[in-house]
Amino acid sequence: MSTSNIVTKVSDTKEEAVKAVAAEIAALIRARAAEGKEAVLGLATGSTPVVLYKELIRLHKEEGLSFKNVTSFNLDEYYGLPGTHDQSYRYFMNTELFDHVDIDKAKTHVPDGTVPADKVAEMCEKYDADIKAAGGIDIQILGIGRTGHIGFNEPPCGPDTRTHQVTLDEITIKDNARLFFHDKIEEVPTSAVTMGVGTILESKKIVLLAWGDNKADIIYRSVCEAPNENCPASWLQNHPNCVFVLDKAAAAKL
Ligand code: F6R
Repeated sequence: MSTSNIVTKVSDTKEEAVKAVAAEIAALIRARAAEGKEAVLGLATGSTPVVLYKELIRLHKEEGLSFKNVTSFNLDEYYGLPGTHDQSYRYFMNTELFDHVDIDKAKTHVPDGTVPADKVAEMCEKYDADIKAAGGIDIQILGIGRTGHIGFNEPPCGPDTRTHQVTLDEITIKDNARLFFHDKIEEVPTSAVTMGVGTILESKKIVLLAWGDNKADIIYRSVCEAPNENCPASWLQNHPNCVFVLDKAAAAKL
């Protein structure tokens, strides 16, 4: 019998799936605003959350959702890419979400991929400390890699890692070359800075999004295998408030 706490929600399409997630984020932001407080969001990049960000932008433009009381922390950044590089995750967040809403960019955090090698550990410690100082992450959005990575925590990876520098798996480099680097594998950085699995697990709520049949195997492993270091997303089973929001194709093997 599985001891998984993970709740799975399956929709016909990703557009339909993200509506409830965006509504939950909007409710959190509005409730905090009414109390004069910040909502703290953990955000992801990659192809998966784009549809969620589109819906949040729509809520801002059409339904008056303000992001003025939002503080955000992104999961990860390529090591070596400045935020002005069009494949950096800072650039992605600006163009896919932040530039289209009224968020104060000074309150949006993405790990700095440009710090010198001897300052990376310090920057990572500060990133974790900044999350704590903000009161912790209220809702963390995740995608999942075909290796089972969350953030860029590639296997093998235990449940206690903090924000740190990692070497990317070859499968991840290939997937990201295809999706984001015009298939030029030599342009994909081989290293990144990522929140650790332990950092992610401290979030009050976690919402993992996955679309398409190429994610079906890893979704099955994450939900149904006993938590193990060869599938980092399986550690999410230990979280008391984690939801996997899936389309039919990604949920096909459950
Ligand atoms: C991105 C991230 C990664 C991606 C994963 C899936 O910030 O942390 O874990 O969520 O690589 O990427 P896509 O969504 O492009 O399939």
